[in-house]
Amino acid sequence: MRDESLEDQFGRRFAYLRLSLTDVCNFRCEYCLPDGYQGTPHGFLSREEIGRLIRHFSRLGIRKLRLTGGEPLIRRDILDIVRDAAGAPGIETLAMTTNAYRLSDMAGPLREAGLNTLNISLDSLDPENFARITGDQRHARVMEGIEAALAAGFERVKINSVLLRGLNDGEVADFVEYVRHRPITVRFIELMQTANNGEYFDKRHVRARDIAQQLEAQGWQRQQRGGTDGPAIEFSHSDYLGRIGFITPYAAGFCDGCNRLRVTARGGLRLCLFGTGTHDLRPLLQNDQQEAAFRESVFAALFHKQAGHRLNEGDYGDTPHLAMTGG
Ligand code: 5AD
Ligand code: SF4
Repeated sequence: MRDESLEDQFGRRFAYLRLSLTDVCNFRCEYCLPDGYQGTPHGFLSREEIGRLIRHFSRLGIRKLRLTGGEPLIRRDILDIVRDAAGAPGIETLAMTTNAYRLSDMAGPLREAGLNTLNISLDSLDPENFARITGDQRHARVMEGIEAALAAGFERVKINSVLLRGLNDGEVADFVEYVRHRPITVRFIELMQTANNGEYFDKRHVRARDIAQQLEAQGWQRQQRGGTDGPAIEFSHSDYLGRIGFITPYAAGFCDGCNRLRVTARGGLRLCLFGTGTHDLRPLLQNDQQEAAFRESVFAALFHKQAGHRLNEGDYGDTPHLAMTGG
């Protein structure tokens, strides 16, 4: 067996894996699944396949694993999956991205099962606005879920909020106020164009740059990034317990520090959120004896990873919406 770590042609090293557990989501966010989930809601990787995939990747140097979806809490075996992943040697940070619809009940059990950090998707602090954007009435439950996550003692709790012109770009000050006394990082994400949301993108996309400049003018200070951190730029302020961050995929140099790989809920390795095609790993997850072949297959795929996305040239790959690859 070769003992290379995961590195591409451009010298970027990959210690961070994002694994989708299901494509299914029960929300209908306007920019992602405006008509709700339309796919085939079965045939996702089994608990056994997931366990094997995580162990193989941890032996290839993956140190941070994010469980994502669709909505990962929809899986009935979610606590078993978290427990298996937490027990994989080498995984230092086990994270999850969720819409929080079940978090008020699940935060404690997830923490006990070994989950370290949580990212919660929340596009509005206002119940009506939340319902408008997500197609879901459970704003109050989501807010309870966030408090439950704080009470459960997660190492970090983050909120992801997609900036939408005319819908929530007027709520920035409310989010800033929200983190005054809460140890939460709110990250504003620029809306990304996908194969399905072109018109919506043109109407709603907002650049985060101006908002970041306003915060700096108000004394917020830019923080350094850590090795397995995502691409967010974060700001802190001595009067606020929480932080504010920005994810700006359209900014120059965004891809230079890329440190992540993605695997879809059906076992396809995806080298870039905005790339084309997946590299099927599932046939190599059927028994433990296939580990060497699995590694060779991952190395072969990584050789083809491109320098960066081509979003600014209007090429957003073949992702219909981010529920497919977990954002
Ligand atoms: N652009 C930006 N963010 C998106 N997300 C889903 N689709 C998009 C998009 N087109 C976000 C979700 C969630 C995270 C998983 O990805 O709102 O915060
Ligand atoms: Fe990496 Fe692709 Fe994301 Fe760029 S767009 S940061 S290359 S995954």
